[in-house]
Amino acid sequence: MLDANFFTDADFEDYRNLLDKESGIHFTAANKPVLVQRLRARLLERGFSTAKDYFKILKSSREELKLFLDSITTNLTWFFRNQPHFDALENFVLPCLVKEKMVKPDRTMRVWSAGCSTGEEPYTIAMLMAEKLLPPWKWEIIASDLSLKCLMTAKEGFYDKARIAGVPQEYLKKYFDETAGGYKIKEFIKSHIKFDYHNLKNISPWRNFDIIFCRNVLIYFEESVQRDVVQQFYETMNDKSFLYIGHSESLFGMKTRFEFVKTEWTTFYKKWPRQ
Ligand SMILES: C[S@@+](CC[C@H](N)C(=O)[O-])C[C@H]1O[C@@H](n2cnc3c(N)ncnc32)[C@H](O)[C@@H]1O
Repeated sequence: MLDANFFTDADFEDYRNLLDKESGIHFTAANKPVLVQRLRARLLERGFSTAKDYFKILKSSREELKLFLDSITTNLTWFFRNQPHFDALENFVLPCLVKEKMVKPDRTMRVWSAGCSTGEEPYTIAMLMAEKLLPPWKWEIIASDLSLKCLMTAKEGFYDKARIAGVPQEYLKKYFDETAGGYKIKEFIKSHIKFDYHNLKNISPWRNFDIIFCRNVLIYFEESVQRDVVQQFYETMNDKSFLYIGHSESLFGMKTRFEFVKTEWTTFYKKWPRQ
């Protein structure tokens, strides 16, 4: 049972600071109810009656902190989310990269799906790569998230019927096996993807990306964190590579070294070599 006054204004400040520091996820007064709702569920699950008591545990246990961060993230995603992004991938980004890399010995396209949630985004990218990048081209995708629960679902690659609604029939046939109650991604697609835990507040352990997708993640961060994360991306990307962010997100006013690219399908960003 929760105390009537289980979450005070002072608790809100404590939790807000902790979340800012540990995950970059920023709660304003306007979205405080979301935090309260998720915290309430977590406290009940863990058998605490006040936020203050649970906070002490969060300060002393990194494991509990990880689980708590997992419980407060927003994980909404779906296959082919924002179709114009994928149309541009197929018709603009991949042809550009193929042309660019053709003159070099490297025949591997490296993609990072940062904040991949339950896997729909990296699997969508993977299906398009399988369609468009034929041998001698190779491709690999790193798909990372802060949520361990989401990563488990993503790794399993099983989706019930409602969740595969956006997948075209021909892709369903080619890239999924129908199983009881849903569809499972085929192993050969999975073999191109490495799912891993990564907190975007930390330095990236990966390098040499040709494309980064970080869609609908920056929106949860404060501006200074957004800037740091975008700068991290810049460092991990090859010259002339591409960055996708969510359609309601923007690098406007951030003074990055990315070039804004507008195509007939959608907009995204390109990294040019350092002058
Ligand atoms: C709304 S989902 C977006 C999923 C997918 N990119 C899309 O656009 O459909 C946001 C994801 O970002 C993850 N996330 C939030 N903060 C993060 C952080 N600091 N590091 C890594 N992932 C984070 C959440 O766990 C969640 O799965």
